[in-house]
Amino acid sequence: MIVLDKVTKVYKVGETEVHALKGVSLKVRPGDFVFIVGPSGSGKTTLLEIMGGLMTPTSGRVLIDGKDISKFNDWQLSLFRRNRIGFVFQNFNLIPSLTALENVLVPMIPEGITKSLEKRARELLKEMGLGHRLHHTPGQLSGGEKQRVAIARALINEPLIVLADEPTGELDTATGAMIMDYMRKLNKENNLSFVIVTHDVEYIRKSDKLYRIKDGLLHHVRRVG
Ligand SMILES: Nc1ncnc2c1ncn2[C@@H]1O[C@H](COP(=O)(O)OP(=O)(O)OP(=O)(O)O)[C@@H](O)[C@H]1O
Ligand SMILES: [Mg+2]
Repeated sequence: MIVLDKVTKVYKVGETEVHALKGVSLKVRPGDFVFIVGPSGSGKTTLLEIMGGLMTPTSGRVLIDGKDISKFNDWQLSLFRRNRIGFVFQNFNLIPSLTALENVLVPMIPEGITKSLEKRARELLKEMGLGHRLHHTPGQLSGGEKQRVAIARALINEPLIVLADEPTGELDTATGAMIMDYMRKLNKENNLSFVIVTHDVEYIRKSDKLYRIKDGLLHHVRRVG
């Protein structure tokens, strides 16, 4: 379980301060399927990056299974990110000189790339509908294809929780629905938790947990019907 406890984030730009998160608390339990919606600049990416241990909060705590990750040393933090978290970046963060297949394998380099890992990477890319694009570099891929490579990369380490920043933003409706169905299948079959930032509200189901973030504050949305 990941818990955010009164997390704030202040960015300093010269003399000005941007209060991106103003005290956000959130619990994500195993098997949760969580959506976060909210306008541009409301703090969604900041929230995900803090949850995934990619950024430290200005105040407040991030707890993973009861442990405060601010107490982790660099090695523990990188193990946490590598073994527990799958992160789909809003801007994909693919390495331009590597092929799709190599990009998916990048997070596993510290562990060593085995034949079975490579097989898994190929299978993930096939699941994403990219079986015919394994050896293309990001420059040779469309936006939606890059996005799917980024999703495959987030899954390569068999994480416990996937944090996805607009994972369907670049996809057409049919491909977006296919990817979302695949994520739901992983959620059901493996109890994998998802926190998904999205503008595509048509993917949200009644059984999901839905939060809205506005001006750095998170609100649980209870929907009727
Ligand atoms: N590195 C940074 N330095 C300074 N300000 C930042 C930085 N990153 C984000 N901000 C500011 O913090 C606020 C929240 O940014 P964030 O990227 O979390 O928003 P977002 O909800 O993900 O927006 P979008 O939907 O456009 O991706 C914004 O006002 C943004 O300008
Ligand atoms: Mg963002």
